[in-house]
Amino acid sequence: MSTADQIWMNGEFVAWDDAKVHVLTHAMHYGTAVFEGIRAYETEGGTAIFRHQDHLARLEKSAKLYYMDLPFSKEQIREATHELIVRNAFKSCYIRPLVFRGHGPMGLNPLENPVEAMVAVWEWAPYLGEEGKVNGVRARVSSYRRISADSLIPHSKASGQYLNSVLAKIESIKSGYQEAILLDDLGHVSEGTGENVFVVKDGVVSTPPQTAGILDGINRKSCMQIVRDLGYELVERDIARAELALADEVFLTGTACELTPLVEIDDIAIGASEPGPVTRQVQQLFDDAVRGRAPQYAEWLDLVPVPSRT
Ligand SMILES: Cc1ncc(COP(=O)(O)O)c(C=O)c1O
Repeated sequence: MSTADQIWMNGEFVAWDDAKVHVLTHAMHYGTAVFEGIRAYETEGGTAIFRHQDHLARLEKSAKLYYMDLPFSKEQIREATHELIVRNAFKSCYIRPLVFRGHGPMGLNPLENPVEAMVAVWEWAPYLGEEGKVNGVRARVSSYRRISADSLIPHSKASGQYLNSVLAKIESIKSGYQEAILLDDLGHVSEGTGENVFVVKDGVVSTPPQTAGILDGINRKSCMQIVRDLGYELVERDIARAELALADEVFLTGTACELTPLVEIDDIAIGASEPGPVTRQVQQLFDDAVRGRAPQYAEWLDLVPVPSRT
C-alpha cells in the first residue's frame, strides 16, 4: 500500500497525517460504519473509476439499512473523489469511502451521534496478489459461517460485519491457505472474505443467489453480464460445498481481488489445478472492461475530469 498526500474528510481536503478522529468515535467501539471499495484504472482516455455510481448507490443503501443518511450527496462524494485523485496525482488507485457514526453519546443507540464521511485513495495491488490472478489461489472452507440475515444484514457493507471475514481470513492464513470460502447458515456456498464465488461445470457458470448471505457485488454483476455476453449459460442458484471440489473451474470476483481463479479447495485440486479456459476468457474481458478496452462496457467507466489550466 502506498500512501497519498491528502484525504477528503467531512467536506475538506486534509493532509494524510491530519485525517484524525476522536477515540470515542462511535464506529470504533461498535462498528457503526458503512464503506465501499472501488478501483480507478488508467485507461487511454485518462483515469476511470469502475462503476463509481453503482458503488455510491450501494453505499447509500448500506447506510440506509443502519438508519444513516449520507451527510453529503452521492454527487458531492463523486466530485470530491475525482478531485482527490487529481490532487494525489494517481493514475490508478483503490478508493475507500467510509460513512460513520462519530463522537457523541456513548452507548448502543447511535441515533444522536453525527454521521460523518471520508474518502481515502491509495495504490493497492490485487488483494490475493498479482501472482494469484495469474496462477490462481488455494482456499479452505471456513469453520465460520457467513453472517446470516437472522442477526445482521449481509446486504449492507457495514464495518462491524467484517469481523466475520477477519476471523475467516485469519483462520485460513494460519492454516496455510490464501483465502477462505464461507458457507451460509444452511451450509450452501456463500462467498469469500471479500469476494463473490463463481463455479463452472460443463460450460455452465453458477453463482450463489442474493439469499445465500452474499454481498451484492458490483464485480459479480459485471462478470454475470460478461459471462452471458460470452455466450455461456449463467445460473444463480444454491451451490453445495462439494460442488466446489467437483467443479471444472472456480473463480472469485471483487474490487480488491479483481478476478482471481481458485485452483484448490481443502487440498483438493479443482479441475486441472490451474485457471481454466472459461475463467481466462471472463478474466480477459473483465480486464479489458475496467481498462477501457471494451467499448461495449464504456458506460461502466466514470472518467476523472482533468482540471483545465488557467
Ligand atoms: C464480503 C464481500 N463479498 C463480496 C465482495 C465483492 O463486492 P464488489 O464486487 O462490489 O467489490 C466484497 C467486496 O467488496 C466483500 O467485502
